[in-house]
Amino acid sequence: MLSLLNKEAIELKADIIGLVFPIYLSSTPIPVREFIKKIHFKPGQYLFAVTTNCGYPGKLEYYLEKLLAKRGKGLDFYYTLKMVSNSPKGLQPSFMIVQNWASTITEKNISALEENVQKELDIIIKAITNKEKNIGKDSPKHKNAVARVINKTLQLPLQWYIEGINAKIGFYTDSTCTGCGLCESVCPSKKIKMNNGKPLWQEDIRCYYCYACFNFCPEQAILVKNYTHKDGRYYYPGITAKDIAEQKIQEK
Ligand SMILES: Cc1cc2nc3c(=O)[nH]c(=O)nc-3n(C[C@H](O)[C@H](O)[C@H](O)COP(=O)(O)O)c2cc1C
Ligand code: SF4
Ligand code: SF4
Repeated sequence: MLSLLNKEAIELKADIIGLVFPIYLSSTPIPVREFIKKIHFKPGQYLFAVTTNCGYPGKLEYYLEKLLAKRGKGLDFYYTLKMVSNSPKGLQPSFMIVQNWASTITEKNISALEENVQKELDIIIKAITNKEKNIGKDSPKHKNAVARVINKTLQLPLQWYIEGINAKIGFYTDSTCTGCGLCESVCPSKKIKMNNGKPLWQEDIRCYYCYACFNFCPEQAILVKNYTHKDGRYYYPGITAKDIAEQKIQEK
């Protein structure tokens, strides 16, 4: 998605299209929202979405449907997978920071989650291959009137409010920073610029709250306001900082 954000319009031509992304604040991360706003669909395409969450998926599917409706498209299939939390602090206010977060990302917990994810992936693959439909006007999900109303009225104001608070998310480095520049290279929003051998989070550029800088720093030198522990960083071992950095190379 990041590699296509410079385009005016994104034409998706495949027969089956999937949107796969993490849930941030029961909603889409900023670049996902921007990507969806640019999509042009073709009639008859099967559209599925798979999200990752850390236990509080909310009703993201309603919000997603709202975004897609503006593109003239309905969602056919939705599934959310519980995975490892990537941060002690999502978009929550500071009092919700999980101070014992490091102790939850143990090898045992991660293996248990991974094992479950693999099983659920089999369900997802089968459903997508058969172009199953589990969402839309006739689906049981739509009968949850309370969730629908909350989503319609509160989702966006809440999101803007909390994103506003977190515009000053408060990342900083301690003395162990070696000036390697890796945080700048993984930052998808280009918020980080190296300045005199130290990362500088530029105030006028939006943070996507992905925590890539925080998690990939080889020295664990990046701390965040109200979470100053040196223990506890997580990224999926199957992905490298280079993979993350290359996502933002814009397609011609
Ligand atoms: C800013 C932010 C907000 C988040 N909000 C939620 C949330 O509302 N519900 C939830 O279950 N998980 C939430 N999470 C956890 C992520 O969805 C989860 O860790 C995800 O698997 C991260 O994937 P990623 O490392 O690819 O970004 C949030 C994480 C971040 C960084
Ligand atoms: S990745 Fe860590 S050590 Fe490297 S420049 Fe950034 S904060 Fe410093
Ligand atoms: S969390 Fe860090 S890496 Fe992610 S967008 Fe914000 S500054 Fe960049």
